[in-house]
Amino acid sequence: MLHRSAQPTTFETIAELGPGDSLGIGLAALLSGAQRYLALDVVRYADNRRNLRIFEELISLFRHRAPIPDEAEFPLVRPLLPSYAFPADILTSPRLDAALHPKRLELIRGAINNPAPRPRGGGPVCYIAPWEPGVIENGTVDLVFSQTVLEFPRDLRGMYAEMCRWLKPGGIMSHEIDFKSVGITVEWNGHWSCPDALWRLAAGRRRHTLNREPHSTHIALLRRMGCRIVCDERTVQPSAITRAQLATRFRDLTDEDLTTSSALIQAVKPTSVVTNK
Ligand SMILES: C[S@@+](CC[C@H](N)C(=O)[O-])C[C@H]1O[C@@H](n2cnc3c(N)ncnc32)[C@H](O)[C@@H]1O
Repeated sequence: MLHRSAQPTTFETIAELGPGDSLGIGLAALLSGAQRYLALDVVRYADNRRNLRIFEELISLFRHRAPIPDEAEFPLVRPLLPSYAFPADILTSPRLDAALHPKRLELIRGAINNPAPRPRGGGPVCYIAPWEPGVIENGTVDLVFSQTVLEFPRDLRGMYAEMCRWLKPGGIMSHEIDFKSVGITVEWNGHWSCPDALWRLAAGRRRHTLNREPHSTHIALLRRMGCRIVCDERTVQPSAITRAQLATRFRDLTDEDLTTSSALIQAVKPTSVVTNK
């Protein structure tokens, strides 16, 4: 998707927010040539043995130039791709030969077995959970990405500012964000009809509560930090609630927000300093 957005696909240091129960995406990035992967989560869901098993499976898929799993295998994954063929034009043979060199794979296996607990000085894999703001130094990361995570942080503005701080000038963010109410309400966008008190009750003691921010909030926060949006691929669904049902707080939701059920947003950090207003 970065390649389609005319962005680079080779990175020194990458960081993932909220990898969940495996470090799979980051390990795939290492097999694509990235040098260092920093994984930050609020809960330590992933375990080393499972990560190692996934790593071996990924090596085999990369070696065999296997097609990307499609809609039939993962019907809920968005965005859909125009082609699920192995991206041989991006992951060329010389690039894969270097990335899959046996010595390099051995180094990564060791790091998966014993991930660094902090970014500084560590090997190719660093896993911090729970993480605290400030743990990554300013301007040290080339790519920050997340998959169905940014619908959770309560302080979304602080979260974007933190990620932007990690990035080198010209660094990239790539976030797939799910705006659906994931099982809390019957309608996919029923969370925008709940008054705050009812929402707090519905969310109950769930470990992760949706922040209910719509698509436009994410775009506005990125723009406020001076980031250039290079991809904004929205998945659109008809609204399952009427405008009259919207809670007061969401009364002014635009039609675009009301019907955006997920989005892949990619943005580039400016190369010069932007003052936040
Ligand atoms: C729906 S899961 C997605 C997991 C994984 N990215 C995937 O696509 O399967 C959400 C993940 O986001 C993490 N998360 C929620 N808030 C977070 C935060 N403020 N910082 C880092 N991770 C967070 C959760 O702990 C969980 O691992």
